[in-house]
Amino acid sequence: MRTRKTIAVLGATGMVGSRVVTEARARGHRVVALSRKPAHDDPAVTPLAVDVSDPGAVRRALADSTAEAVVLAVRTFPADRDFLVTATRTVLDEAAHLGIRVLVTGGAGALRSPGDPGLLVADNPAYVPPEVTTTAAAGVAQLRTCRTHAGADWVYLSPPALLEPGPRTGRYRRGTDTLLTDADGRSWISAEDLAVAVLDELENPGPDRHFTVAHRPG
Ligand SMILES: NC(=O)c1ccc[n+]([C@@H]2O[C@H](COP(=O)([O-])OP(=O)(O)OC[C@H]3O[C@@H](n4cnc5c(N)ncnc54)[C@H](OP(=O)(O)O)[C@@H]3O)[C@@H](O)[C@H]2O)c1
Repeated sequence: MRTRKTIAVLGATGMVGSRVVTEARARGHRVVALSRKPAHDDPAVTPLAVDVSDPGAVRRALADSTAEAVVLAVRTFPADRDFLVTATRTVLDEAAHLGIRVLVTGGAGALRSPGDPGLLVADNPAYVPPEVTTTAAAGVAQLRTCRTHAGADWVYLSPPALLEPGPRTGRYRRGTDTLLTDADGRSWISAEDLAVAVLDELENPGPDRHFTVAHRPG
């Protein structure tokens, strides 16, 4: 039987965060929805306004949430590497202090290229066009922040190259630190199925600190 958890979602109003909230609620978990402008009409979702740039506010929000896990799903437009690294370090620091597990929904850029393990996706023009290299590099720096953090219990989920709203199939392929592609070379998943993978990992932690998922045809 599934154990009911309390899960904090930081970036709960975003594309990924909102799907994680929906999936968590569908599985009966209690959710604390964190962002600067939170909104929710589900009584089992507690909205809490917090700016991740304010470590004291993050500490109070996580402590008040009594969450067992926090999903970090924030980003800015345009991508801001310093913001992302600082936000990630803040959440890792506060979560470590409180003994909360952190699941970071990060970037595909931090993965290895299929067939060329020495080449990060962030540096591979086949997957990362010039206009998104800054975003991809921010994800690489974010994973490094996790790897170099002493004390936090973290797991980093890299999406495939394309992550967008779509159907929830409930299926996905799971890999480790190499980008997953299908037979046509496409690397994608719906945000809904990514959320399925997030909840599966929170309910039954896998062996990998860095993993990825991709669409699995029926
Ligand atoms: N293929 C890929 O690699 C890929 C593709 C898409 C996304 N992603 C990753 O997935 C994660 C989530 O992305 P997304 O598309 O869901 O982002 P999004 O839709 O832009 O949502 C961003 C969220 O962050 C919150 N936020 C922004 N600044 C904040 C702050 N200072 N304090 C608190 N909350 C803040 C926003 O809420 P408020 O404005 O209310 O604060 C919002 O809920 C990111 O790490 C992103 O890089 C990866």
